[in-house]
Amino acid sequence: MHTISFHVNGEPQTVRVAATMTLLELLRDRLHLTGTKEGCGIGECGACTVLLNGAPVTACLILAVEADESTIETIEGETRNGQLSALQQAFIDAGAVQCGFCTPGMIMSARGLLRRNPEPTDEEIIEAIAGNLCRCTGYEAIIDAIRLAAAANRAREDDSLLDAAPPRDDEGAADG
Ligand code: FES
Ligand code: FES
Repeated sequence: MHTISFHVNGEPQTVRVAATMTLLELLRDRLHLTGTKEGCGIGECGACTVLLNGAPVTACLILAVEADESTIETIEGETRNGQLSALQQAFIDAGAVQCGFCTPGMIMSARGLLRRNPEPTDEEIIEAIAGNLCRCTGYEAIIDAIRLAAAANRAREDDSLLDAAPPRDDEGAADG
């Protein structure tokens, strides 16, 4: 067993984990952050995407011990004070959510993109979500949603998409 310390959505955590536990198991089974989904379990579907130190990763392929001293962001960190993030709202407005199973991973990939590139081209959006599979929407609505969120962010100068710091402590939870 190993003791690891990290921040999830701005909250400090210290837990003991087995050497073989994945980051996905840590989030879902130990921390009960079930917004992050398990699809394939082998790094191919992107449903388990979270941000690790600001970069999108597939949590099923990361060992929990690799998250020691890291900053993790999950879909639960998107909502602040009960308000959906611009990205979450854009996914609703664009009709980009059908069954919703891919949505948390899509949104985390999109957040990673918009943080490093607030004005992505359609090609850059497509590249950013290339590792996220969706069986329902046909992708057009998802691309529209990310484009919409980027535009909303610029219009409102909403730093929630740009802030490189971990989400604030006043954030609530939202299961995608
Ligand atoms: Fe991790 Fe599919 S569950 S990539
Ligand atoms: Fe169903 Fe994407 S909305 S898999």
